[in-house]
Amino acid sequence: AKDVGILAMEIYFPPTCVQQEALEAHDGVSKGKYTIGLGQGCLAFCTEVEDVVSMSLTAVTTLLEKYGIDPKQIGRLEVGSETVIDKSKSIKTFLMPIFEASGNTDIEGVDSTNACYGGTAALFNCVNWVESSSWDGRNGLVVCTDSAVYAEGPARPTGGAAAIAMLIGPDAPVVFESKFRGSHMSHAYDFYKPNLASEYPVVDGKLSQTCYLMALDSCYKHFCHKFEKLEAKQFSISDAAYFVFHSPYNKLVQKSFARLVFNDYLRNASSVDELSKEKLAPFSSLSGDESYSSRDLEKVSQQVAKPLYDEKVQPTTLIPKQVGNMYTASLYAACASLIHNKHTTLGGKRVILFSYGSGLAATMFSLRFRDGQNPFSLSNMAAVMDVEKKLKSRHEFPPEKFVETMKLMEHRYGAKDFVTSKDCSLLSPGTYYLTEVDSMYRRFYAKK
Ligand code: ACO
Repeated sequence: AKDVGILAMEIYFPPTCVQQEALEAHDGVSKGKYTIGLGQGCLAFCTEVEDVVSMSLTAVTTLLEKYGIDPKQIGRLEVGSETVIDKSKSIKTFLMPIFEASGNTDIEGVDSTNACYGGTAALFNCVNWVESSSWDGRNGLVVCTDSAVYAEGPARPTGGAAAIAMLIGPDAPVVFESKFRGSHMSHAYDFYKPNLASEYPVVDGKLSQTCYLMALDSCYKHFCHKFEKLEAKQFSISDAAYFVFHSPYNKLVQKSFARLVFNDYLRNASSVDELSKEKLAPFSSLSGDESYSSRDLEKVSQQVAKPLYDEKVQPTTLIPKQVGNMYTASLYAACASLIHNKHTTLGGKRVILFSYGSGLAATMFSLRFRDGQNPFSLSNMAAVMDVEKKLKSRHEFPPEKFVETMKLMEHRYGAKDFVTSKDCSLLSPGTYYLTEVDSMYRRFYAKK
């Protein structure tokens, strides 16, 4: 198979959201902490009628419908998620009724889990399958689905929720440059979910930021090394049109891109001009550890990186800023933002993605865009996802109602024997929702 990659994409996020500005006032933190400090605009969340299964049912069915895909044409289905609904039964199996209805049960793949990295693992599995000798000629489907919720406190404003479905096959408009990959895997307790009775993670916020940046440095080093070996020339930021990051909150994305600029400076890459070199020179002798804790380096490198950030990163930030951290879906929502904003000019361009999942697993990899042909074109992807309309038609909840919803969801997590309100008035037609969990913990969904 040639030019294997993403043929089609659909995104779903709950229509219920809370403004970060309202949350700042409600939480009694200083004005600007969430909006400027974290760089976030809005946070989407599931109410009691939605969960990771209903969101992925919605994303998959709308993708199949809108691109006119026959469910029989799917030969592999992989789900990435860190939201545990069941310790054994995969989310993938909840999606099988969509395919069973057309007589297709011959579909490989189950769920992949490691914090926000599961979606990337699922995606690599699917791409590798299409490129392998076990490929049967049909397409793969990857679903990233998560509800990111935190206990009350500083991490809560970094929540979010979404599902993304991606069709994988040959002759794609978003092609994997599979040779260019750099990974960093390590043992860390930065963010984890050891309490199986709670949906909330245990999180060491500061440590998670440092782990993220260390993994970024390491992945970039490996990525550049592999690129240089294969292409016989140095890689620098100038070799890609866009950089897409896993986005827990926008401020970390700003810091990450600045970190890449600092890396290019240390590697003496051509992407860094003379004035920037002068500004970064005072930091050239810092040790690794010192460089992660230097506030001055953080400030100066962000300032130096700003024009390049505006050009190469800003167009990827729309959905993550407006929806929040979507865990496994976050990186691909950033990619969807880029397609939404730039689909008319992406053809021929390279984009570098950085995937990070706490615990920890991280990979930097490369994609190349082609205009493609309908229905598998960049412009059709943008039309199908219709991000602007989805964002505009949302319903803002006051913070009090958001907090109330979080409390109800704490009780509902892992519970049995209840029916939901079945109130789907805020959901758009075609959206799946949870109706009941019976005495055997079996979950039931309906479609609006
Ligand atoms: N106006 C403008 N900026 C402000 C204001 C204000 N009024 N108040 C604070 N800030 C800035 C701070 O200076 C800081 O920015 P800086 O890092 O550039 O200095 C930023 O706002 C955040 O303030 P902190 O005091 O650092 O925030 P706090 O420690 O309370 O929480 C944190 C932030 C740690 C990110 C928390 O939200 C968290 O734990 N989130 C979850 C963990 C996470 O997402 N980690 C990322 C990788 S792992 C993953 O993807 C889950």
